[in-house]
Amino acid sequence: MDREEIIQYLKSNLKEQRYAHSVRTEETALMLGRIYHADLEKISVSALLHDCAKRMSYQELIEAAKKYQIPLDDNMMCNLKVLHGPVGAKLAEHELGIKDEEILGAIAFHTIGDTQMTLVQKIIFLADGIEPQRSYPDIYKIRHLAKKNLDLAILLYIDRTIGYVLAKQDYLHPKTIEVRNVFVKTVKEQRGKKSK
Ligand SMILES: [Fe+2]
Ligand SMILES: [Fe+2]
Repeated sequence: MDREEIIQYLKSNLKEQRYAHSVRTEETALMLGRIYHADLEKISVSALLHDCAKRMSYQELIEAAKKYQIPLDDNMMCNLKVLHGPVGAKLAEHELGIKDEEILGAIAFHTIGDTQMTLVQKIIFLADGIEPQRSYPDIYKIRHLAKKNLDLAILLYIDRTIGYVLAKQDYLHPKTIEVRNVFVKTVKEQRGKKSK
């Protein structure tokens, strides 16, 4: 599937605003991809498709999760807004014929992240949260850091997300903590190396 076909698919399957967000996420992800020398082709496809399941209702997402054998444990059922990540990856694979595991992972992980993200997957995760129309306190700091230290920017972004969830007294998926701890370790290691 080339870019034009993906664009056509998104235009007919996403609301206009979501489509525009996907294109902005692609722009931001490509900007980061150039800085960190990532595979720009994979970044483009992953970013454009990351929200491809966003049009689905919670009920439809649950049905799709059952169909594709995505585990629906209590954490997922209490946090249904993250389900469009893993379901989106399955749609991309089965409806759009995307076979690349790294791209499918980038789509699946964009909502919570993962403890073993590749460079492309990290970039998609962050670009989704800092594309130009996103607005929240400290976003300027995260955008600035994104160009200098991707791992530290992601750690700040996860911290901001956790803070937001706590402030809303909302359900926090425990994997968020696991993912955060991986970035805490990475950032500590980087600081240790620098001070030697
Ligand atoms: Fe999303
Ligand atoms: Fe998104």
